[in-house]
Amino acid sequence: MNIFSSSLISETQNHSGTVSWQSPSNIALIKYWGKFGVQLPKNSSLSFALSEAYTYTSIKYSSKISEKAEHEFFFEGKENPAFSKKVLHFLKELDVIFPFLKQLDIKIESKNSFPHSAGIASSASSMSALALCLCSIEQELIGSLQDEIDFFTKASYVARLGSGSASRSVYGGYSVWGEFTELVETSNDYAVPFTYEVHPLFMLLRDSILIVSDTEKAVSSRAGHALMNGHPYADARIAQSKQNMSCLIAALKQGDTDLFIEVVENEAMSLHALMMSSKPWYSLLHPNTLMILDKIRAFREKNGLFICFTLDAGPNVHLLYTEEDESQVMQFIDNDLIEYCVDRNIIHDKVGFGPKRME
Ligand code: PMV
Repeated sequence: MNIFSSSLISETQNHSGTVSWQSPSNIALIKYWGKFGVQLPKNSSLSFALSEAYTYTSIKYSSKISEKAEHEFFFEGKENPAFSKKVLHFLKELDVIFPFLKQLDIKIESKNSFPHSAGIASSASSMSALALCLCSIEQELIGSLQDEIDFFTKASYVARLGSGSASRSVYGGYSVWGEFTELVETSNDYAVPFTYEVHPLFMLLRDSILIVSDTEKAVSSRAGHALMNGHPYADARIAQSKQNMSCLIAALKQGDTDLFIEVVENEAMSLHALMMSSKPWYSLLHPNTLMILDKIRAFREKNGLFICFTLDAGPNVHLLYTEEDESQVMQFIDNDLIEYCVDRNIIHDKVGFGPKRME
């Protein structure tokens, strides 16, 4: 059976129910940058789920009462035309995957655990929460997706169509999206949990997100991915990501913090270097981002702690360290970094357990 398509429901019966999921954002250590076909990645990526930054989505559904099904979307209790357009358009595109959607009136309510202005990309958490809800509706109405692996594989597949990085948000801990020969069962169509050995040190990783800017980014990820087509470094980037992935897998297994730092910071800087060397070029870094990166390196060299950074497609810095160094790192943040954050804004997060179905 093909889990990626589904069927219509009987119209002689009345169907109704509510499904809700809470799903996290994630931060990539090996970055997905550039795509082909229908939202397929040019290189494989590896990330971990966050714990505190998540979207809560609830879908109330019932058999449609008019000829045309009514689909509504509310964000934080209010109508939000921009988000609504995106989500409702996405639902229309899922016609083959969830044909029963056109037989249902649907009300979607969504909210984030983090302020919209925090500069944290919400597409991974919101698209994964939505995909999980849709799979739960399929489970209730069609009776399919009873197998847990099938359920999350399909949720990841659907989330990917909404936003590539969202494919990785349906799992807790570490996950991988994109075919990588060293890792069996990886796929371009959906993410899979990273089931290889991860040293306990990395399961207890902390991520303090230093909010350098809370304004909307000038160039979207969609435009950034598109600029990788014909990019002069495109082939080199794919080769680099493979090498970095192999090294990171080894570092995670062996608890090799030096190798982890080397790879993770290289990925972050390479992502932004690719943006700067695109035609036309652009940069999402802020002067304060660079100030913070210098301070992190100096602090690491002076104190010999395991501390490093990664960056998303934006100016905010994800400061990575382990639980055992937390008090020293908090002091470092207060003394040296917080002054570079907008409104002294920091979100303290860590490796999370993944999405949760809510009652
Ligand atoms: O999922 P998108 O299209 O928003 O792209 C995300 C790209 C990065 O966040 C920069 C990297 C990643 O793998 O998450």
